[in-house]
Amino acid sequence: MANPAPRPLTESPAGAAYFTFAHLSDPHLSTPAPLPPRDWCSKRALGYLSWYRKRRFEHRAEVLAALQRDLAQTRPDHLVITGDLTHIGQPEEFAQARRWLEALGPPERVSLVPGNHDSTVAAPWGETYAQWESYLATDGETDGAARFPSLRIRHGVALIGLSTAVPSPPLLAIGRLGTEQLARLAEVLTETGNQGLFRVIYLHHAPVPGQDNWRKRLVDAPALAAVVARCGAELLLHGHNHRTREFQLETGGRPVPVFGAASASAVGAHGEPGGYCLYRIWQEHGDWQLALERRRYDHNSDSFMVAEQHRLC
Ligand SMILES: [Fe+2]
Ligand SMILES: [Fe+2]
Repeated sequence: MANPAPRPLTESPAGAAYFTFAHLSDPHLSTPAPLPPRDWCSKRALGYLSWYRKRRFEHRAEVLAALQRDLAQTRPDHLVITGDLTHIGQPEEFAQARRWLEALGPPERVSLVPGNHDSTVAAPWGETYAQWESYLATDGETDGAARFPSLRIRHGVALIGLSTAVPSPPLLAIGRLGTEQLARLAEVLTETGNQGLFRVIYLHHAPVPGQDNWRKRLVDAPALAAVVARCGAELLLHGHNHRTREFQLETGGRPVPVFGAASASAVGAHGEPGGYCLYRIWQEHGDWQLALERRRYDHNSDSFMVAEQHRLC
């Protein structure tokens, strides 16, 4: 991969049309309702206590308000959100998250996949994910059954969403894609690759085998890596760790860049402050180009600022 001198994301490539999207993750924006007695024996009880004792002090509404002000300034064409909008996946939290999504933009401009917190326990689709359906759906899919991979195509960019959200036993935060989703992913990657599209895969859990410890891992990451090696992709994005991370997925040919996002709502008292990343994609002389700008929450100014810019491809 060529690595020319960095150039600012804000600099427009001469004459090139480009597509800009923001990747944000793990806003954990909701306030859980008091637990009904039946939930005190479920995994939701541990999650509720964790929220009450710690997480509600880290994931803050004022950071999300600053994020929305910043997005109004940076004005990406599209938003990609990689899950964990809630803390314990209650229907009431899904409703809060739906209102937040609507404030961010219409479903045509906001693409979403779920995270493990959103699937803390098995819950009826109609009470939970049905509320987010239009943000989860593939272009033109109107039957109400969001299927993964989802596929949205914008300005030559294929946004391919995967769901890794499955309920797991207490103290585990694992993810799973499953053989059916992986088989469909191979088809989608092949079709969009044949069309010459820039393929962005986005999912909640970290996709590189060994990237996370066993408690938080994507259990079928090796199978995902094999599909990407066989069928190709240009970029992988994920959340889950609440940390900015950068990896490469080895494919036997050109490695695929893998970027993890910080939590969008973190005030930074217990780790990395809130952040998100802007990606700009365009073509030069028939080759895809990619530039990124990381933006990070600054507690003193209560605003997001540029943390890093660079160009790949
Ligand atoms: Fe999270
Ligand atoms: Fe997560």
